[in-house]
This record gives sequence, structure tokens and C-alpha cells, in this order.
Amino acid sequence: MTSTLKYTLNVDLGDRSYPIYIGQGLLFDEQYFAPHIAGKQVMIVTNDVVAPLYLNACRASLSRFSIQEVILPDGEKYKTLDVMNRIFDALLQKRFDRRATLVALGGGVIGDITGFAAACYQRGVPFIQVPTTLLSQVDSSVGGKTGVNHPLGKNMIGAFYQPQCVIADTSTLATLHDRELSAGIAEIIKYGLICDPEFFVWLEKNVSLLMKRDPQALAYAIERSCRNKAEVVASDERETGIRATLNLGHTFGHAIETGMGYGVWLHGEAVGAGMMMAARMSQHLGWLDEQSVERLGSLLHAAKLPLVAPSAMDVEQFLSLMQVDKKVQDGALRLVLLKGIGHAVITADYDQATLREVIESCRG
Ligand code: NAD
Ligand code: GLY
Repeated sequence: MTSTLKYTLNVDLGDRSYPIYIGQGLLFDEQYFAPHIAGKQVMIVTNDVVAPLYLNACRASLSRFSIQEVILPDGEKYKTLDVMNRIFDALLQKRFDRRATLVALGGGVIGDITGFAAACYQRGVPFIQVPTTLLSQVDSSVGGKTGVNHPLGKNMIGAFYQPQCVIADTSTLATLHDRELSAGIAEIIKYGLICDPEFFVWLEKNVSLLMKRDPQALAYAIERSCRNKAEVVASDERETGIRATLNLGHTFGHAIETGMGYGVWLHGEAVGAGMMMAARMSQHLGWLDEQSVERLGSLLHAAKLPLVAPSAMDVEQFLSLMQVDKKVQDGALRLVLLKGIGHAVITADYDQATLREVIESCRG
């Protein structure tokens, strides 16, 4: 496959800055990998769904290096410390040293777990993100949040650890299931909601093109999402402030993912319903008008995303799970809410009764 580079962005983090390459066929082209690999040893980490699709291409692009691979079981339920240990087993068995590079080939689960393994192995080796889902191309591969789940809480064990580069090959999206495509669109909508109202309007007009996998529309949405994310990450890498807005809908969403059992609801689906809950909460507080909430509902609906939380979870379970959140400070849960489309705020300034009421009214 010939490669066509459409966009290059930069995540500006001083001497840890790195490029994001976006385009067709990049995975098949060694020029995007080689300049970012210092040593000779490369460990490709992927899973048993992605390996049959793209491992050969990735191996070919890395053929000048000494390559090994580890193939993990597929799915959110395997994003655990136990499964991560298999990466360390492979690295140690093959005598990988500190100049080794890890390559994460897959969706957000592979990216998060591989990044965390890279952060830990011999106290830190470089890694490259090769995201192959829409969600990972617009969100998880950028910004250096790495980690695994704990049975009691989503993404609770991890590290901030930036990759050497992100290679987002949009041709890989052709093999993605429809449900996974929608899940990625949820995170794209998030950027419009939190900080980019013009992009929200663009999405209202063009969501059907994204759903039809129009290559130009997808590449544009990936670039604009990554640009938004790169800006936020550059100004607040370790989430002491504004970066928390990237978690719009996630406190509700993570509760759904944990409460329903990892993998039952996709991350993007849970974020979709979670953003709707955050919007309703904002409306209850008088910060968002009904028309804006309806616009969000229509957009999520057009992207075939859920608008309500699962009825199987009750309010008490929600509230309890929501307390296991990295935005809890001194026991107080801060929520990301909206003061209009394109304007997210982080606040503990809400009352518990309103939160209960909103959760109750948003259950399916
Ligand atoms: P995923 O990694 O589970 O991938 C979804 C499914 O698609 C999997 O079955 C996967 O094997 C398959 N797949 C991957 N690429 C494919 C392709 N090209 N064709 C066909 N199938 C393919 O899920 P995801 O939605 O990519 O990522 C969700 C994860 O990302 C969650 O664990 C979430 O917590 C995490 N996340 C992290 C961040 C971050 O900043 N680090 C941000 C958002 C989400
Ligand atoms: N996905 C949220 C973040 O990267 O901060």
C-alpha cells in the first residue's frame, strides 16, 4: 500500500515533544517509524484481533530492527496488571535492554497497557503509538495517559508517559466494526462540547459522512480532535487543571463501564451516555439551555450512541462508583460540566440531591 501523509501535528512538551502523523497507509511505511527508534530491539504489542489484520504490515515496516512480538487477548477485561505482566515476561525472556522500543499496535486498550509497560520496564523505555481504532486515533494515543483497570475502578493504576510519536493510519479504520466507529465519534463530539463550538457545528453537518467512513471527513475530524487534545495536553500535561475537561462524561461513563462489567458497554458508548448526563446536570444547575441539550442528543443519536444510562444500575451504585474517580479531591467529587456548548468547567459546586435526580432521570 502506498502511504499518503495528510496531516502532521506536534504535541509541544519541550524535550519530550512528539509528532502525530495522520494519513492513509502510514503503518505500511517504515519512514514513520525508523526516525523514532534509537536502539535495535523492537517489541510489537498487539492483540489477537489486530494481529491477523496488521501485524505483518507492522513487521515489514520495522524489518531493519530486531523484532519480537507479544499478542495479548482482546478486550477491555484484559486491561489488567496480570495481562501486562505478559509483556514483561516477553521482554525479559528475549533479553530486551533499556534501548528497546515498544510499539503499541491496536486500540486504546493496547495503547494504554503498552504505554504503562514501557513506563515501568527497567524504569522506562521508549514506545510508539500505532492506534488502529477511531477512538484511539482521536484520543487515547495522544497525551501520555497510560495504565490498566482495577476491579474496583477504571484506569486506576497507571502513569503519565509520553510516546515517541503517534502513527494514525486512517486506512485501518476500514476493518473497524460499526459499534467501534460510533464509540470513536463519541470522543470526537467531546472536543466540540468542551472547547470547540465551531467543530460541534461541523459535526452536526457532517456526522453522516463520518458514519459512512468518508476518508476526508474522518481525516479532518481526527486532525481537529488531536489538535484540540494536543493544545490541552501541552498546557496541562499532568492534569492539575484544564486537562480534566477532557474527561467530560467520563465520571458517569466510567461508573457505567465498571458497574456493567468491563467490556459490556464500550468506553465510547459509556462516554456518550455520560456526556448526556453531564449536559442534563448542567441544565439542572441553570448553566445549559434545553436547546443545547437537545442538539447534543440529536448528534449522539445520529452517531448511533446511547443517550441514557443502563437501567440495570441504580442511583446508589452510580454514586458509589463515581466516588472512585481521579477527580475526587479530599473526598469531594469534582464534575466536568458545561456552561454552553464549547465551554466546559470543573466544579464541586453542585448539590447531591440534584446529582441523584439527574442520575435517576437519565436511566433507560
Ligand atoms: P479497544 O482497544 O478495545 O478496541 C476496540 C476493538 O476493536 C477491540 O476488539 C480491538 O481489538 C478492535 N480493533 C482495533 N483496531 C481494529 C481495526 N483496525 N479493525 C478491526 N478491529 C480493530 O477499544 P478502544 O475504543 O480503541 O479504546 C478504549 C480504551 O481506551 C479504554 O480502555 C479507555 O479507558 C482507553 N482510553 C484511554 C485514553 C487515554 O487518554 N489514555 C483516552 C480514551 C480512552
Ligand atoms: N482522555 C482524557 C485525557 O487524556 O486526559
